[in-house]
Amino acid sequence: MNEQQRKESSQIRQGTPADVKSDQDNLNRIKDKTSEDFMKYFETTYQPPSLRKAQRRRKEDVKVHYDFTIPEDLDNIGQGRKYMIRTYGCQMNEHDTEVMAGIFEEMGYESTNDTKEADIILLNTCAIRENAENKVFGEIGHLKPLKLENPNLIIGVCGCMSQEESVVNRILKKHPFIDLIFGTHNIHRLPQLVKEAMFGKEMVIDVWSKEGDIIENLPRSRKGKIKGWVNIMYGCDKFCTYCIVPYTRGKERSRLPEDIIQEVRHLAAQGYKEITLLGQNVNAYGKDLDLNYGLGDLMDELRDIDIPRIRFTTSHPRDFDDRLIEVLAKGGNMLDHIHLPVQSGNSDILKIMGRKYSREEYLELVRKIRKAMPDATLTTDIIVGFPNETAEQFEDTMSLVEEVGFEAAYTFIYSARDGTPAARMKDNISMDEKKDRLQRLNKLVNDQAAEAMKQYEGEVVEVLVEGESKKNSEVLAGYTKRNKMVNFTGPRSSIGTIVKVKINKAKTWSLDGVMVEETIEVK
Ligand code: SAH
Ligand code: SF4
Ligand code: F3S
Repeated sequence: MNEQQRKESSQIRQGTPADVKSDQDNLNRIKDKTSEDFMKYFETTYQPPSLRKAQRRRKEDVKVHYDFTIPEDLDNIGQGRKYMIRTYGCQMNEHDTEVMAGIFEEMGYESTNDTKEADIILLNTCAIRENAENKVFGEIGHLKPLKLENPNLIIGVCGCMSQEESVVNRILKKHPFIDLIFGTHNIHRLPQLVKEAMFGKEMVIDVWSKEGDIIENLPRSRKGKIKGWVNIMYGCDKFCTYCIVPYTRGKERSRLPEDIIQEVRHLAAQGYKEITLLGQNVNAYGKDLDLNYGLGDLMDELRDIDIPRIRFTTSHPRDFDDRLIEVLAKGGNMLDHIHLPVQSGNSDILKIMGRKYSREEYLELVRKIRKAMPDATLTTDIIVGFPNETAEQFEDTMSLVEEVGFEAAYTFIYSARDGTPAARMKDNISMDEKKDRLQRLNKLVNDQAAEAMKQYEGEVVEVLVEGESKKNSEVLAGYTKRNKMVNFTGPRSSIGTIVKVKINKAKTWSLDGVMVEETIEVK
């Protein structure tokens, strides 16, 4: 980056709170994307976001900013305009979408689900597996005719894919009609970025490989009024060898306990009934804070808040400590469901995956949890076909699934992610073999799920009623404390409350029943 460009970057970012430690080299604003100048710039000087740099981060202090505001000249910019955000990926991304929606709405935009009506369309992307990325590139292709019809339409790509250099380069080369690319650390800059894209008529790229700060008071337009998400930390430092998340989401940064507690209190006051605390590695919460305060301590404080249900996702077995188990076992608004991704049942594969626990250690943790919380449902994530996974190693996964008795599992075929250590491993297992293993695993999980459901027939369960069932508006739907979906008949007035439902039929993934009585919401 030459002096002129360096100056330009710092000018663009002036006055925004999280700039202080951002990565100078990776802020690029490119003028006139189709010109020869641009192509020359792109080939000689342009620096894409760097996965390698993202990995070489150091433990720097995290600054917390409480001074987010939408600049006065931008808070009206959306009057009479509509935004649309398509979200791919995990709950973290869904929640980022709620933040971006909040920012848009403070700028005067209205939301729409119709691409034809939208003045700005953002794709909030996921990089976790190749098929996730393919979906987004497919969608970018579909949006092109809209842009040709309406040149004023702004199309932006954000989220985890934007943090990958290969993706940014591919968009630059093959989809130059995209107006805006920004990364996961730049959401708070949305107002400025939209303005640049709108008035500058130039491609705006704002992706930082390094991150560092936490922006506290961002607006949020939440999707529901019953269940709410609360970020408690950002990033992941685990670097499992197959996973792209530590590169796209940056290092672990925990929010301060008081900020989280205040947000949960606020949601309780607004009538929310269930809170999910979010983090990629959520039980590493607090490790970076130097307060000797972890997820168990936080949950213990949240227990006292008048909110009927509190859960968290996703926890890593390595960081699941005794204090957390002790607090969860107290019951009340702590739920009887733990999602505990195991990935593989074979210790050698776990070692190469960099998971930092063995099969035996995982099973020991499960025993501890079961002892303290005999009613808890356990669910998991599993990858099949990790490079060179043998038939015997896969059988270890099957036997572990049986031994633990998981009642649900998200199962995936391993997908090589550029820039991760596992992507450099040679693999000699055929895709057919991998598909076969996935099918067998899914059958086992389904059988276990169906078996676990049977015990509910004739029982009465407590259901947090979320709304009408997707398939039939006469039927209401919600979840039990153990995360079982229940479809039942009952009055619409029960939506948003916790009611008792008698189960008359168990299916593999849901229960059917009839409401028997409204329950008083006790914690
Ligand atoms: N932070 C969470 C979840 C991360 S992504 C955790 O550590 O559990 C959700 C799931 O996607 C992972 O648990 C893993 O099972 C799967 N996954 C991640 N990277 C993958 C890859 N390269 N190929 C296939 N599945 C992957
Ligand atoms: Fe990825 Fe592992 Fe971090 Fe989960 S813990 S986000 S699988 S690196
Ligand atoms: Fe996907 Fe990023 Fe989440 S890669 S799974 S959207 S953290």
